[in-house]
Amino acid sequence: MTNQPNEESLDPQDWDAMRALGHRMVDDMLTYLQTVRERPVWQPMPDQVKENLKKPLPVDPQSPEDVYRDFTENILPYPLGNIHPRFWGWVMGNGTPLGVLADMLAATMNPNLGGGEHVANNVELQVLDWCKEMLGFPLSASGLLVSGGSMANFVGLAVARNALAGFDIRKQGVTAAPKQLTMYGSAEMHSSLEKAVELLGLGREALRMIPTNDQFQIDLAALEKSIAADRSAGYQPICVVGCAGTVNTGAIDPLDQLADIAQREKLWFHVDGAFGALAALSPELRPSVKGMERADSIAFDLHKWMYMPFEVGCVLVRDKETHRLAFTLTPEYLAHFERGAASGSHWFNEYGLQLTRGFRALKVWFSLKEHGIAKYGRVIKQNVDQCQYLTELIQASPDLELLAPTSLNIVCFRFKMADAGDAALNALNEQILMELHEQGIAVPTYTTLNGKFAIRVANTNHRSRQEDFDILVREVARLGRELSMVKSK
Ligand SMILES: Cc1ncc(COP(=O)(O)O)c(C=O)c1O
Repeated sequence: MTNQPNEESLDPQDWDAMRALGHRMVDDMLTYLQTVRERPVWQPMPDQVKENLKKPLPVDPQSPEDVYRDFTENILPYPLGNIHPRFWGWVMGNGTPLGVLADMLAATMNPNLGGGEHVANNVELQVLDWCKEMLGFPLSASGLLVSGGSMANFVGLAVARNALAGFDIRKQGVTAAPKQLTMYGSAEMHSSLEKAVELLGLGREALRMIPTNDQFQIDLAALEKSIAADRSAGYQPICVVGCAGTVNTGAIDPLDQLADIAQREKLWFHVDGAFGALAALSPELRPSVKGMERADSIAFDLHKWMYMPFEVGCVLVRDKETHRLAFTLTPEYLAHFERGAASGSHWFNEYGLQLTRGFRALKVWFSLKEHGIAKYGRVIKQNVDQCQYLTELIQASPDLELLAPTSLNIVCFRFKMADAGDAALNALNEQILMELHEQGIAVPTYTTLNGKFAIRVANTNHRSRQEDFDILVREVARLGRELSMVKSK
């Protein structure tokens, strides 16, 4: 069968040429990954590269080979760096070679996991069951793969709000609430939870920021006091959030005790375990996140501490029907049938905001089968051990000091000088950080703890080796000495 003379398609005219280009791309990309250690972690983009990305809308076609050349010359050399062994910025994963290939296979099948009867939905159901098993949730729980921790937190808090409002908040909206709804979590909570509360119409002030102790964990007495004060002032507390690994320092809230409080106070218990929840995969680390398996909902990422390519996060909700009721809406054009492609027993669009959903489940399925859960546990523990090693190097160095107790896989430290105050050290350490990036040495990032600018290492990197932390410590000390000498001249 051939196209009519005026019929077009976006498929190639020359499949053999496309096949050859595809093979070249696979070869190039595997070499790119294999040689990543030899390149700088990060390098600035030349102006000409930025200009090249301000071109007018293409009207006429270009050959795929030309487009690929443009990509290899102008895009590929300027990554953020998170696939590199010395990237420890924010909290990001590296991705894996098979994850890349799985994404290609997913894009080839290109199914829509909003609903219907097709195998991709079963793949997602399969990996969700694996996720439940990984975190100690019952198989009767429900779940959803989402873009990341932010969306997973949003879904968790949306279900919490709808389930505990006490009236039909989906129909009537928050303005119909007889009492203002409030939620609780530590002052170290991630900003995505604040955004979620804003988008849920509660207003950011409805999320009570409870102070933390010197380990950056939620102060339980302050939490209980805040709930009681709100109740007597006429508010309606509905949810408490526990952090399994805070973004700043990796602190883990006392999750079991938070679960007790939530139970006693009849609150929804949501855990933000974006990266920390995965500590459960290591038998040695599992006790540190005990209690999270009691959550009503939990958010975590597979693209952080399970090193899968962006984007893939997950939310689990203990009660499947409560989850469904928060999002189900089935107009005529989405009706489910008994037979054919529009049948299917589980339509994921009923469990979240997205209708059209990509096949992110496939890279999870591939990755979990490729490595097996025991290896993930070992690599996660390796990251924690590397952070302990880094902590010891810092403690042994006369030039460096820790700025927070090292919890899990996050280390906060700075270059120090005997006679310098915080303002001078903040400026100096900021400079050190910029130089680390611009010289392509390493990419840790930053936070401010008790007014002190900290160089912050978040190790969710399966490519890091002990020697990478030796380099970091050596270079921070070198840059600190050099920059402080320049300053004092
Ligand atoms: C504790 C915590 N929660 C939530 C998030 C948001 O996750 P994502 O960036 O995948 O949306 C992060 C991101 O670093 C995080 O560290």
